[in-house]
Amino acid sequence: MSFPLVRMRRLRKTAAMRRLVAETTLTPADLIYPMFVCPGDHVCQGIGSMPGVNRYSIDALVEECRKVADLGIPGVILFGIPEKKDALGTEGYSPNGIIPKAVRAVKKAVPGLLVMCDVCLCEYTSHGHCGVLEKGHVHNDATLELLARASVVYAKAGADVVAPSDMMDGRVYAIREGLDEEGLDDTIILSYAAKYASAYYGPFREAADSTPQEGDRKGYQMDPPNFREALREVAMDVEEGADMIMVKPALPYLDVLSAVRQEFDLPLSAYQVSGEYAMIKAGGQMGWIDEEKVMMESLICIKRAGADFIFTYFAKEAAALVGGR
Ligand code: PBG
Ligand code: ZN
Repeated sequence: MSFPLVRMRRLRKTAAMRRLVAETTLTPADLIYPMFVCPGDHVCQGIGSMPGVNRYSIDALVEECRKVADLGIPGVILFGIPEKKDALGTEGYSPNGIIPKAVRAVKKAVPGLLVMCDVCLCEYTSHGHCGVLEKGHVHNDATLELLARASVVYAKAGADVVAPSDMMDGRVYAIREGLDEEGLDDTIILSYAAKYASAYYGPFREAADSTPQEGDRKGYQMDPPNFREALREVAMDVEEGADMIMVKPALPYLDVLSAVRQEFDLPLSAYQVSGEYAMIKAGGQMGWIDEEKVMMESLICIKRAGADFIFTYFAKEAAALVGGR
């Protein structure tokens, strides 16, 4: 059947009808808010390239988490900025590091809020790489043990989810094993399964002060031209015991997201990364785009492509807009 019997525009005529036939929806429950935790008291420090995003000391973080929960957002993911960095990223897996302290405080004050912890060493290493350096290279297998240690420390502090973002081979299995050995078999692993070596992470690295001092992350993160390789990465993480998976960044990699959705039945997330956020904010501030509309469109498109939920710095703004939990 076709025109003139069929007129596609009939279903687009009113806002109510468009709502009725919408194939994809966005609710606060679809969003996870990434947050940066730093040392100190009463700290709420802006990040130049990420307007509206702050580094919080633990006391301020807890207050902010109450607001996040009140907006109907189910969870946050925490990134730590340590007191000091060293070659082995020690504060990343110390039981008294910034993240376990923050997790304990948030879980105590807002128990209903899911707390996820990014697991990686780059925020904690003086050289800024995601693992242990040996002759200028990140040593895969030496890094695994430290990632497992970090995961155990975060899980013991009360984290609901550990989310390895380092892209070492075998990390999911190493983490699962480490958790299970400690009786932490309830802790969920969300793997950054298909994570690309992307220039869109620029603003994040300002926020976490984690730009590699030398070289780049291309030796471990994925190469942007590759698509089939992403499916292999995801398959491996699933085999190693990942409970949930992620594609990152989001908007420039919707083809990957959509393919992963078709091939895998695990809960699937996408990370709308710092650069994606910064570009929309900048365009809005310049008056060149309608920031709010572009924000909502980008999020609904990420869901349409197949994400069950989205890590986004827009979580609070978007949740406030779509409201109603
Ligand atoms: C740590 C990590 C990064 C991001 C999430 N976890 C930075 C990186 O890999 O360089 C990026 C998040 C963002 O850009 O918003 N490995
Ligand atoms: Zn890293």
